[in-house]
Amino acid sequence: MTTSSFKFLSLAALVVAAVNAATVITPTSLTACQNANIAWSGAQGKVYLSVLQGKDTSQKPIKTFPEQDGASGSLLWAPVDIKPNTEVTIQINDGSGTPNYSSQVTVMPAVGE
Ligand SMILES: *[C@@H]1O[C@H](CO)[C@@H](O)[C@H](O)[C@H]1NC(C)=O
Repeated sequence: MTTSSFKFLSLAALVVAAVNAATVITPTSLTACQNANIAWSGAQGKVYLSVLQGKDTSQKPIKTFPEQDGASGSLLWAPVDIKPNTEVTIQINDGSGTPNYSSQVTVMPAVGE
């Protein structure tokens, strides 16, 4: 291996190590009283998903889900028990110790309400 390719590989390893939080896939939409899927990937160990109000990540979650397993997977939120027009952010915690967040989503009112 040449020195330059070694340097490149070391740099690549550093970049991978820095980005080790799991990713929670932002739901395309959330509707009150309807089911939704929350998917994640890149997790290590146990996975804990929770729902924050707004995007203030220092707040206590308004909802927490049971512990999940798997590097990637999805959880059925049945039904979405959050008031319509609430802005929420999904938080993911895993064995990496670094939380990560979805984009902010607004809970839509159920059709007919
Ligand atoms: C957090 O998740 C986003 C995708 O939503 C991802 O691009 C980013 O790398 C993750 N952050 C960390 C620190 O892993």
